[in-house]
Amino acid sequence: MSNKLIEVKNLKKYFPVKKSSILGKSQYLKAVDDISFYIDEGETFGLVGESGCGKSTTGRCIIRLFDVTEGEILYRGEDIAKLKESELKPYRRKMQVIFQDPYASLNPTLTVEDLISEPLNVYSIGSKEEKKERVFELLEKVGLNKHHMDRYPHEFSGGQRQRIGIARALSINPEFILCDEPISALDVSIQAQVVNMLEDLQEEMGLTYLFIAHDLSMVRHISHRIGVMYLGKLIEIGISDEIYNHPAHPYTQALLASVLEPAPKRTNGKSIQVLEGDVPSPLNPPLGCKFVTRCKYATKRCYEIEPQLKEISSGHMVACHLF
Ligand SMILES: Nc1ncnc2c1ncn2[C@@H]1O[C@H](COP(=O)(O)OP(=O)(O)O)[C@@H](O)[C@H]1O
Ligand code: SF4
Ligand SMILES: [Mg+2]
Repeated sequence: MSNKLIEVKNLKKYFPVKKSSILGKSQYLKAVDDISFYIDEGETFGLVGESGCGKSTTGRCIIRLFDVTEGEILYRGEDIAKLKESELKPYRRKMQVIFQDPYASLNPTLTVEDLISEPLNVYSIGSKEEKKERVFELLEKVGLNKHHMDRYPHEFSGGQRQRIGIARALSINPEFILCDEPISALDVSIQAQVVNMLEDLQEEMGLTYLFIAHDLSMVRHISHRIGVMYLGKLIEIGISDEIYNHPAHPYTQALLASVLEPAPKRTNGKSIQVLEGDVPSPLNPPLGCKFVTRCKYATKRCYEIEPQLKEISSGHMVACHLF
């Protein structure tokens, strides 16, 4: 039986927006607006959607880099959504993050050895020799070697820097890693290498990943299941191949069509919608279905009533009135 490592229940993250006048109403940007999903232990859950749809905010709420506006984040069944910093300490060790831009996230004045051993210092793990040994071991795990120890981040290529970022995230043996677009900034030729390495490390270390990307082609290979976000909402969830071969939501279809040549056929024979127009402002989202301003199937009902996620086949959930 599968074992949920993380379960997100009705998560909301609203950012307050500056009022235009003292008398103006308080306004909130609903970056994440009532989403629920789970990640099994050892699983990779892919989160996709156009820039600004709330992927990073979701990830940052889960690892509690952000306070949560409302909802629950269960880590092995314990709700960590409202825990104070002092109470979060045991969870901080178990959850790590890999960012899109390793250069921005690695302190340029530290050597590779310092960078990778920093988390070990924070948690006072190991003697000086043990730490050095651990850094060697981690460098090898990510395809670098001990001759890289005394060098600085600027001496490495983008792909190598991401490897250093990964070694650093792994140093304290986490259980869960938020991978926030870790390959989006890398050359296409390097992307597959890093994805393959993350997969090997997952198997070897029993890791669980939340893997964020803005296009579906990047997450297909690594993800067991995929969630598609649009304007702060999760609009489709399913097993990776199912989302890829039978995308149900018009937005998922359009997102997929934008990265595929030739476009896949819809199972019900209708032509695929292409992605046109811009995402509406999250400060003023449509009332009903959030995708209504760009959807060619939209009806009056779509403008008035927000569709809820509904299971259309085993484990495949879609929020659209067509279903
Ligand atoms: N710290 C913040 N303060 C205010 N608004 C934010 C903050 N972080 C993100 N946002 C807004 O929340 C929305 C979702 O952002 P984000 O989660 O970064 O999207 P994604 O990662 O999908 O590109 C965007 O409209 C963004 O401008
Ligand atoms: S609910 Fe309506 S507007 Fe929204 S995706 Fe479905 S058909 Fe399109
Ligand atoms: Mg992001």
